Amino acid sequence: QPVKLNPLMEMHKEAADFYHQILMTTKIGERGLEYARSRQLDDETLKHFQVGYAPDRGDLLLTYLREQGFEDSLLSQSGLFVQSKDGRLFDRFRDRLMFPMTDEAGHPVAFSGRRLSDNKEEAKYLNSPETSVFNKSNLLFHFAEAKKHARKEGHLVLFEGHMDVISAYKAGVKTGIASMGTSLTEQQVYMIRRITKNVIINYDGDDPGLHAAERAVGLFKQAGNFNLGIVVLPEKMDPDEYVKQYGAEHYQGAIKGAISTTDFFLYRLKQKYNLNNEREKVNYLAEAIQEIAGLNPVEQDLYVNRLSEESGVSVEALKVNLSRARRRNR
Ligand code: UTP
Ligand code: MN
Ligand code: MN
Ligand code: MN
Ligand code: MN
Repeated sequence: QPVKLNPLMEMHKEAADFYHQILMTTKIGERGLEYARSRQLDDETLKHFQVGYAPDRGDLLLTYLREQGFEDSLLSQSGLFVQSKDGRLFDRFRDRLMFPMTDEAGHPVAFSGRRLSDNKEEAKYLNSPETSVFNKSNLLFHFAEAKKHARKEGHLVLFEGHMDVISAYKAGVKTGIASMGTSLTEQQVYMIRRITKNVIINYDGDDPGLHAAERAVGLFKQAGNFNLGIVVLPEKMDPDEYVKQYGAEHYQGAIKGAISTTDFFLYRLKQKYNLNNEREKVNYLAEAIQEIAGLNPVEQDLYVNRLSEESGVSVEALKVNLSRARRRNR
């Protein structure tokens, strides 16, 4: 006998089915399907992620859910509707491609809707507000599915957005999850740790993405006991765009080529300094050595050799500074 769901979860299940059916089978959904196709989402992918479409109407979902027997008092607590001053309910999501967000068991508890129009006055993504079944700081997009695949793959891959998770999935990387715009939280880090300690961070290649990756690394390190890899993409690309440009095989290579947190730190550090200027180069080396001093002896050796090669400073000199840095660290 199936477990009885919380009524708000029951409602979200109905809503997700409804939006998905509209997208896949109706005339009014054609506009959404056209958009989905423009983003190269095929039927199989739309089905796997139960993607839907909310037409530009104020009463479609409302009417449907009332017909299913849901009371207005419950509808108004669901986050699926907005309420006018006189108390009337209207569908919150309009003319948006709908991504259900599921809890750890895979039950939809919220939605994120991608705007179809170019109208910049509206948010590109609109998310459900928090409700009694949706706490955004402890939900990760695609977590329920990804954790199944993580058992075999031995890792999870962390993205910024839905489309990144979806494109990676299509490209054979099925362990993707996303915190969806809001920056990663401590709770999400602990959710991840219950599944695996191997995490690959694959954020957008732009500066906000790199900053977010640095911040995420900090959170994982604070929680402790993680093996992290970072995928750095070309500057103007996110994973979705990268997959489309270079294809699945190339993308899988990029995931396998994830760099260590030390390499990522040094990469970011290098961007901060003009290494053609002697004084800046000295500061760069000082900061790099400070970081390297925290590593194990083998890693220290490796990085000192590499720093020496790229900077032209002798290994001996770098090692003197390294042992000073180690003493400072004690
Ligand atoms: P991005 O700004 O990188 O999205 O935000 P994007 O790659 O341009 O979106 P597409 O590919 O054109 O559709 C990354 C993620 O942050 C969340 C979404 O989950 C998005 O995927 N986000 C972004 C929001 O929640 N609200 C927004 O207004 C924008
Ligand atoms: Mn699957
Ligand atoms: Mn971004
Ligand atoms: Mn992006
Ligand atoms: Mn994108």
